[in-house]
Amino acid sequence: MKNVLVLVGSLSQASINRSLAKAIENLADTQLHFNYFDLAGLPHYNNDLWDNPPGAVTDLKHRVEAADAVLIVTPEINRSYPAIIKNALDWASRPYGQNSWAGKPLAIAGASPGAIGTAAGQNHLRTTLPVYGFVVMGQPEVYFQFKAGLIDERFEVTDEQSRGFLQNFVDKFVEWIDHHGEDRALRVA
Ligand code: FNR
Repeated sequence: MKNVLVLVGSLSQASINRSLAKAIENLADTQLHFNYFDLAGLPHYNNDLWDNPPGAVTDLKHRVEAADAVLIVTPEINRSYPAIIKNALDWASRPYGQNSWAGKPLAIAGASPGAIGTAAGQNHLRTTLPVYGFVVMGQPEVYFQFKAGLIDERFEVTDEQSRGFLQNFVDKFVEWIDHHGEDRALRVA
């Protein structure tokens, strides 16, 4: 089973993006193992800390390097994506020449109560991803408009059409990982 490092861009206990990540995890079932990284534990990026790196930073880098792929599930915050995601991306991209993300297959999803379902936030995120060396899955895009009851307390998607849409996302992500998982040609410093 493929091991996916999951970054959820919300610290809220009631996060709709965490619910979406759990719902995707349920649909991935036997195909993908989800390994959630707690972004609350990372300090703000500070180059000086590399002299004695915090445990959360070395843990992040080890878990990235052990992962077959990365999934980011992000809210949209003021038409962009949360600083906690940028902070994690920046930490594991360093020290210079030791970018842990390089060559990793990546997919993105996001949930918002609003009608554009994080499209603007994800668009900002996508513009930064090539510099980290990810192999980014472009389609399908998941702009999930969250409504009460759409994901239940067991993280099952209650609406058949939405469930089918997310299942297709999972299936395409599995194919993406299979296809690009061993491709390290895109490794960058
Ligand atoms: C938001 N929210 C929001 N929603 C959106 O669709 N576009 C946006 O630009 C913003 N901007 C924004 C800024 C700030 C500071 C907050 C607190 C909220 C609403 C947001 O989608 C909603 O709070 C979600 O529930 C956040 O996701 P989590 O934390 O529930 O996963």
